Amino acid sequence: YLLGVDLGTSGTKTVLFDEDGNVIASKTIEYPLYQEKNGWAEQEPLDWWNAAADTIHAVITESGVDNKDIRGLGISGQMHGLVMLDKDGNVLRRSIIWCDQRTAKECEEITARVGAERLIEITANPALTGFTASKILWVRNNQPEIYAKCAHILLPKDYVRYMLTGDFATEVSDASGMQLLDVPNRCWSDEVLEKLDIDKALLPKVYESPEVTGVISEEAAKRTGLAAGTIVVGGAGDNAAAAVGTGVVEDGKAFTTIGTSGVVFAHTDNISIDPKGRVHTFCCAVPGAWHVMGVTQGAGLSLKWFRDNFCGAEKETAAGMGVDPYYLMDQQAARSPIGCNRLLYLPYLMGERTPHLDPDCRGAFIGLSAMHTKYDMLRAVMEGVTYSQRDSVEVLKTMGVSIDGMLACGGGGSSKLWRQMLADTYNCAVRTVVSKEGPALGVAILAGVGAGLYPSVQEGCRRVIRLNAPQEPIEENVPKYEAFYRMYTKLYPALK
Ligand code: XUL
Repeated sequence: YLLGVDLGTSGTKTVLFDEDGNVIASKTIEYPLYQEKNGWAEQEPLDWWNAAADTIHAVITESGVDNKDIRGLGISGQMHGLVMLDKDGNVLRRSIIWCDQRTAKECEEITARVGAERLIEITANPALTGFTASKILWVRNNQPEIYAKCAHILLPKDYVRYMLTGDFATEVSDASGMQLLDVPNRCWSDEVLEKLDIDKALLPKVYESPEVTGVISEEAAKRTGLAAGTIVVGGAGDNAAAAVGTGVVEDGKAFTTIGTSGVVFAHTDNISIDPKGRVHTFCCAVPGAWHVMGVTQGAGLSLKWFRDNFCGAEKETAAGMGVDPYYLMDQQAARSPIGCNRLLYLPYLMGERTPHLDPDCRGAFIGLSAMHTKYDMLRAVMEGVTYSQRDSVEVLKTMGVSIDGMLACGGGGSSKLWRQMLADTYNCAVRTVVSKEGPALGVAILAGVGAGLYPSVQEGCRRVIRLNAPQEPIEENVPKYEAFYRMYTKLYPALK
C-alpha cells in the first residue's frame, strides 16, 4: 500500500491506495481560512498537522490494513505558504498563504535588490505577491520581533513532513514557488539569498520529488498509527502532484484544474520561461524536468463564494437529498444559455495572476439586467473562470509550448458541464482520469518510486493511471464561446 496526503486550502485529504492505484480508504478534514483584511489570507499550521495526523489515523483504522504493509508516504501541498518556526520547532505566527496579496511593496523591494532580469534568469519568474520570498520580507519589515526569533522557514506540506519525521526538508517543485530557488539548476540560489539578506541556514534541504527525505518518527507513529520507520518522499506542490496523478509527465501533455485556484499546467522536458512572467515556470516532480503553468486566483473560490453567499436554499435542499450542493448548482447553471443572456463575470476575487499579474484587481459581473436570474449568474461564474483559463492557454501558445491533450481535474473537473465549457472554449478534447484523487494519487506514485515499487515516475503512471473516454468540443458551441471570450478579454483593460 501507499499513502498520499493532500494538504489543500479548504482541507486535508489522505488516501490509502494499493499498488495499482485503487483507493482503499479516504478521509478529509476541513479547517478555516482567516481573512483579517481585504486581500489577506492566513491559516494555522497546527490545523494542517492535526488534519494530516487525524486523516492518516482514520484511513489506517478504517481500512484495517497492517501499517507495516504501507510502503511509503508522499505529501502534496498548497504552495507558497510561509511557515516560520523558532529554534525549538514551535510555530511563530499563522502562515501567510498563497492567495494572500499584502506584499506588493515587498515585491518591489525584491525586484530592486535582485534586478528584474536577473530575477527571471535565476528564479524563472518575476516577483509575485503569491510567492514565499515576499511574505518573508513582509514579516521582516512588519513584525521584526517575530523574524528575529525565526530559525526555520518551511512550506505548508514541509511543516507536516517535519512533524512526521523531524526533518527539515523540501523538494524542487514546491521550492520553485518560494522565489529563492535557482530553478534551472534545481538548488537554492546563493545570489538571491545574499541580495535579499536571507540566511540560507533558515531553509530546508532540497530533494527531487521521489527521493526519500526521512522516516516516520516514534512520536509521529503513536499519533498517526503509521509504523515508525515508514519512508516519506519529497512529494510535490499540489499542481506538480496533480500532474503525476493525471499522467502529465511527458512533453505535449497538459491539464486544467479547478480547485480553490485554477491552473493550466503543461509539462516541459526543457525549461521554458515567459519573458513577461505571466505564467510560472517551476521544476516538476519528474527529476530533471520542468513545467509551465498559468494560475486563476479565484476559480473554485468564485463558485464557493457564490454558494456560501447566495445558495443557502440549495445547500439545504442538497443536504436533504444527501447530494453535494454543487451538483444542484450545476443543474441550475445548465438552464442558462451559453453567454448567460449576455452576462459576463471576472473571477478576480483575490486579484489575478495569469495574465494580468495584478494583486489589486477585483471581480465583477458585467451587463446585469433585470431579466437575469441566479441561474445566469451561476453560469456566468463558471464561464468567467473558463475564460480566465483560456487566457492561460493563449499565453502558453505564444511560448511555443505544445499541448496535444488536455486533462481536467480538481473539484471543477468533476462537473460534466464545466468540462464541456473547457472543451468548447479551448476547442480541444478534454479527458479525465478514472481515479479522482489527482494530487494524493500523484504523491502516492512518488512514494512508490521512492520505495522502489516503480522504476520511474513515468513507469508508475503507466502502471496506475487509466483515462476515461474524451469529451469532444461541440462544434456549434465553439464560435459562441469564442465571441464571449473575445468580449471577456476586453473587460480587464477597460476597467483597469
Ligand atoms: C500555485 C498556487 C496554487 C496553490 C493552491 O502557484 O498558488 O495553485 O498551490 O492550491
